[in-house]
Amino acid sequence: MRTVKTNSPEETWELAGELADKIEPGTVIALHGDLGAGKTCFIQGFAAALGIDEPITSPTYTLIGEYEGRLPLHHIDLYRLSGPQEALGLGLEEYFDVNGITAIEWAERAEGLLPPDILHIRIEADETTQTRTFTIFKENEA
Ligand SMILES: Nc1ncnc2c1ncn2[C@@H]1O[C@H](COP(=O)(O)OP(=O)(O)OP(=O)(O)O)[C@@H](O)[C@H]1O
Ligand SMILES: [Mg+2]
Repeated sequence: MRTVKTNSPEETWELAGELADKIEPGTVIALHGDLGAGKTCFIQGFAAALGIDEPITSPTYTLIGEYEGRLPLHHIDLYRLSGPQEALGLGLEEYFDVNGITAIEWAERAEGLLPPDILHIRIEADETTQTRTFTIFKENEA
């Protein structure tokens, strides 16, 4: 388990880039944190470090975005998921056995459908400043 604080979106990009440089292909990242915590910001920095120049957005009608970089990146945002039934219908497993990286926002909405050795990143925002506290740990060391 590792705890890191960032004080700006730029510092979050730096942290994400550091992780992207040493990530194992096939890793599934579960991002946790309230609305506006910085989950998408982190994934944008991560994508940039993988050499992806396409903007990473939070699509309104699709839950899954696919990008090609040094490693393929699947960005899944489960915020709009109506329930566990819909999670089952997404076929999430298909994204997990690829040689790329899958990053999932609101991953707790697919609890039980995620692989066992997932990398968790929990982001907590400070109420009054731009400080974000990142807690990073592997599921099997939790
Ligand atoms: N240290 C920081 N790290 C990341 N983002 C920060 C930081 N400080 C301020 N911000 C701002 O916080 C916001 C984070 O938004 P972002 O879309 O990444 O949140 P999110 O967790 O993906 O929210 P949602 O659940 O709505 O998808 C951005 O406006 C960003 O500029
Ligand atoms: Mg987001």
